[in-house]
Amino acid sequence: MNVGKTTISVITADHLSRSGKKVLLIDLDPQTSATLFLENNYGEITPKEELFTALNNENLRPAICHLAENLDVIPGDWNLSKWDQMAAKFPQKLRMFILGNLLQPIKEKYDYVILDVPPTISVLVTNAVLASDYIALVLQTQKSSYESALRTTRYLQELKEDYNANFILIGIILYLVSKRSRTDNIIESKAAETFGEEALFKNHIYYRERVKNWSNQGITHNEKDIHDVHTHKMYSDLIEELIERIGD
Ligand SMILES: Nc1ncnc2c1ncn2[C@@H]1O[C@H](COP(=O)(O)OP(=O)(O)O)[C@@H](O)[C@H]1O
Ligand SMILES: [Mg+2]
Repeated sequence: MNVGKTTISVITADHLSRSGKKVLLIDLDPQTSATLFLENNYGEITPKEELFTALNNENLRPAICHLAENLDVIPGDWNLSKWDQMAAKFPQKLRMFILGNLLQPIKEKYDYVILDVPPTISVLVTNAVLASDYIALVLQTQKSSYESALRTTRYLQELKEDYNANFILIGIILYLVSKRSRTDNIIESKAAETFGEEALFKNHIYYRERVKNWSNQGITHNEKDIHDVHTHKMYSDLIEELIERIGD
């Protein structure tokens, strides 16, 4: 579901790298939305080798593009939609750990590696989950993605058991319509009941026209523009809580 995942991933990568942390953002969505978002700011992003090829050759380095000080990206690749088929050639035992294993030697160079995943579960998404230390879910009240969040937490729990995985679900981010919306409040209390009050991020994401501008024209940091300032503050509060929840 479109719940603002890519937007949060890209803005988080932007904020953390600007604050001096070394960040690698990996766009695992064949629709390449994170890459398209970043291209507004950085122009066309062309890796030496596309991600699908890099995964096939079992070396991710040629897929990494350097965008700015502290910010690298592995751009998305529409060929990824065929990746599940490709993964089938790996022995069963290894199949879900291909990405994790390839990231092992690379992640040491970074403070944060952010994986932006497509909305449907696949071998690739399972690889991403099992490669992760921490996972955040996003729930958009307007689209009542509540059911989907519920299914996702069950799927994560199953993966944990089946693969003895040790990723931590750090919480659920709510994308709300407005501070006073009735549907928002209903879904929020339903989510608090199901997942537990403490599972929900205290900082929420709200609909902001400015985010639309950013996703079409690139992120701006104009300190004299109140919409830039407020929208960045909304995300930086969320990111601060995210870092707190990770416990770094
Ligand atoms: N806080 C926000 N305010 C307004 N529009 C948003 C916000 N967050 C995301 N969007 C828009 O919603 C659409 C889906 O967002 P996206 O981050 O791509 O979701 P997902 O990755 O979950 O599919 C995009 O057009 C994006 O610009
Ligand atoms: Mg997305």
